[in-house]
Amino acid sequence: MSFRKFTRLATVAAVFLTAYLLLSQTDLVYVYQGQEWRAWKYTPSSFDWRKRPHTHPVDEATMTRLPEGNPRQLPRIQHKFSKDELSKSHNETQRERREAVRNVAKRSWRAYRDYAWGRDEVAPQTLVGQDTFAGWGATLVDSLDTLWIMGMKKDFGDAVRHVATIDWNNATSWDCSLFETNIRYLGGLLSAYDLSQEKVLLDKAIELGDMLHAAFDTPNHMPANAFHFQTAKEGKLVASGHESSAAVGSLSLEFTRLSQLTGDSKYYHAIDGIKKELERTQDTTSLPGMWPIFINLQNNFFTSGTSFSLGASADSAYEYLSKMHALLGGLDPTYEKLHTKAMATAAKHVLFRPMLPDPAPDVLFPGTVLSNGLIAELSPEVQHLGCFAGGMFALGGRLFADEAHVAIGDRLARGCAWAYAAFPTGVMPETAVLIPCQPTPKEGGRDDKAKSNPKPKDNLAPCPWNETRWSAATGERARTQQLPRGVAGLSSTQYLLRPEAIESVFVLYRLTGAADLLDTAWDMFEAIRKATRTRLAHSAIADVRATGKTAKLDLMESFWIAETLKYFYLIFSEPELINLDDYVFNTEAHPFRLPKPEGESLE
Ligand SMILES: *[C@@H]1O[C@H](CO)[C@@H](O)[C@H](O)[C@H]1NC(C)=O
Ligand SMILES: *[C@@H]1O[C@H](CO)[C@@H](O)[C@H](O)[C@H]1NC(C)=O
Ligand SMILES: *[C@@H]1O[C@H](CO)[C@@H](O)[C@H](O)[C@H]1NC(C)=O
Repeated sequence: MSFRKFTRLATVAAVFLTAYLLLSQTDLVYVYQGQEWRAWKYTPSSFDWRKRPHTHPVDEATMTRLPEGNPRQLPRIQHKFSKDELSKSHNETQRERREAVRNVAKRSWRAYRDYAWGRDEVAPQTLVGQDTFAGWGATLVDSLDTLWIMGMKKDFGDAVRHVATIDWNNATSWDCSLFETNIRYLGGLLSAYDLSQEKVLLDKAIELGDMLHAAFDTPNHMPANAFHFQTAKEGKLVASGHESSAAVGSLSLEFTRLSQLTGDSKYYHAIDGIKKELERTQDTTSLPGMWPIFINLQNNFFTSGTSFSLGASADSAYEYLSKMHALLGGLDPTYEKLHTKAMATAAKHVLFRPMLPDPAPDVLFPGTVLSNGLIAELSPEVQHLGCFAGGMFALGGRLFADEAHVAIGDRLARGCAWAYAAFPTGVMPETAVLIPCQPTPKEGGRDDKAKSNPKPKDNLAPCPWNETRWSAATGERARTQQLPRGVAGLSSTQYLLRPEAIESVFVLYRLTGAADLLDTAWDMFEAIRKATRTRLAHSAIADVRATGKTAKLDLMESFWIAETLKYFYLIFSEPELINLDDYVFNTEAHPFRLPKPEGESLE
């Protein structure tokens, strides 16, 4: 072969090789300023919600805009960890614990990747894909920021490539939940964008935000949580007459962040209308300061309900009040007012100290209150979902300089940790009934009070363990239901891989620096890992009382990787990773970057 022929052949081969490499990659990798970037192959959704005119348009001139001005310097949130504390607690032990969490995340993600890629969830035992949240890949989108935080960059890149092609117009159901879509998908995209600055994530967030914004295209501009795609396209949605307060109150962080990132105030305007209604009705309910679990959105934000709670269907409506204050850089004073009143009411009526066996820990739990405006009656049923309340009280306490609320938060977080340790698996059940220190009306508590001087009762005051009282409250059930001492009943024995307990333990650790919480978290993690493990992933379990092998429910919701494992990973990481002075978490554990005052920094 002549030299010329050889070079020609070599050139042809090189061209083919380059062409092959280019075609086999769906995205182009290039290096700019020493960093690797990708030009993702972005596929817009097949329906553009921005082009659909609203039936009930908002007048541009009267639209509420993001508050103007330099964000205020907020009080320091995180404990100032000294060098000594850091070297003492963040040692080899924490590195090993973090690695153990990461390994659980890896195997869970791989099960999803290999058996349910692009679907909403993988069934962790039978290993089939399931679509439970409209089929846009809930686990994939919800996991993005966890993958980033855990340094699983290759998996992150593969997931982003998929996100770039999601078609919001290609759902597997006729409708979706505005609330769930907002916290999991929109929250997941915004957070992953805040962390990685991958522009395609913001592009997809805007597409989705424009769709969800159409939920506010109703006669009274209150959102329709049941987002029926066809009805929305026809502009005929109406808000529900019976809506959970959580669904109403948990849109604010995501819609505000989207307005901040795009400069378009329409999302912020929509949720500001809800804030105004919360403010208008706060003192008019039958438990003034709080809102009933269900609200009539269709009819003038009617709040006549009699049931009040920090748990299911209400939770994040309260969680978002202080967090909105932080995200807006303290520029809207309303959120502080809403939070402060709501927490004062909750502390007085909803929280209680349970009667627990010796050595009785100094802990609190949130229950549920029935109130008709005259009598407020506490039902001491506690929910795993309510375990986030510790973090909420503590965070609000720091933000609004109320250390008593940080202490309440600490006792709440430790309450759920107690409930983990109380059961044979080391895991807390979905719902349990406890015995409040203050006697309940059924036990004659009210009569006692009526007879004696009506001293204001203190729900948070301690009491000694009284075996007779516990036996009287439980009867045969203590034996037939295998109730741990202190527990008076079980409404659901399941553990669904939920995050709220570790969420509060994580927040309290970051806020107080109490190193014993690291060991508490590790005990919780080890118990969960063991009780939920399947061959390739992890599953919700049927009964936390199991002493041997646990029965699996073949369910692994997207919050397992998005929230539970993220909080476990973060608590064992250096406190600088996702510093709570720089980020605020949405209710699906997606951190959003906080605005910072110009030219100032925390010393
Ligand atoms: C690391 O710190 C923990 C406290 O969180 C302590 O119990 C442990 O002994 C330390 N381990 C080492 C190897 O120093
Ligand atoms: C729509 O979804 C189906 C499965 O649900 C999928 O097979 C199809 O490729 C999707 N089409 C587009 C355009 O995304
Ligand atoms: C324990 O509880 C029982 C039943 O409620 C009550 O009669 C008794 O006085 C209590 N004992 C003490 C020491 O408080």
